[in-house]
Amino acid sequence: MQINYFGHFLLTHLLIGLLKKSPSGRILFTSSLVAFTNNLSLKTLNFDLEKPNYFDRHFVYGNSKLSMIMAADIFAKKLKGTGVTVNSVHPLLVKTPLFTKIHAIYKNVFFQMYIWLSQCVFGRDPWEGSQGLVHAAVSRKLKNATGKFFGDYAPWRKPLKAYNKQFCKEIWDASEIYVGLTPEERL
Ligand SMILES: *[C@@H]1O[C@H](CO)[C@@H](O)[C@H](O)[C@H]1NC(C)=O
Ligand SMILES: *[C@@H]1O[C@H](CO)[C@@H](O)[C@H](O)[C@H]1NC(C)=O
Repeated sequence: MQINYFGHFLLTHLLIGLLKKSPSGRILFTSSLVAFTNNLSLKTLNFDLEKPNYFDRHFVYGNSKLSMIMAADIFAKKLKGTGVTVNSVHPLLVKTPLFTKIHAIYKNVFFQMYIWLSQCVFGRDPWEGSQGLVHAAVSRKLKNATGKFFGDYAPWRKPLKAYNKQFCKEIWDASEIYVGLTPEERL
């Protein structure tokens, strides 16, 4: 949560002043398909795992990636009309060292075969995986696109919880407190 979400949430706030001064700015959050499998709530937003098993880790990862989508949406709304757009992107399944590390942690043969097979079938190399992000960052057609969740080149439907405005606001408000934003730094 710290690396994937809270850090980005805070850094983005601290850079808003500069971004607004630029002729135009695009903020992109690198989310993931795993956002669809989450158990995000006010309770799990900053959850301390004592003995995490595979599912716990998976859910925390999904929670961080969903939090990004929800934060991107609220940033987008709050920054409407400033020339700064905010979107989230998921790069599908990319073959990165993340998977080799998972192999090392989970020595279950079936799990390793599952990971290996899905990488072979769906995995793309990091260059391919980066293209959706590059597209969202530079495409002229997407100049005004904001509050979207891109899968590669086209907007996708977001995970259900991202459409619950009240829930998104609760997560946003709690995040402001966790990262210690001062009243002036809040948007
Ligand atoms: C959500 O995730 C946390 C951490 O993995 C876990 O302890 C909790 O039981 C989960 N809650 C639900 C409702 O699945
Ligand atoms: C973006 O919005 C501006 C102002 O409304 C409009 O003039 C322009 O055509 C739009 N660009 C694209 C690519 O949609």
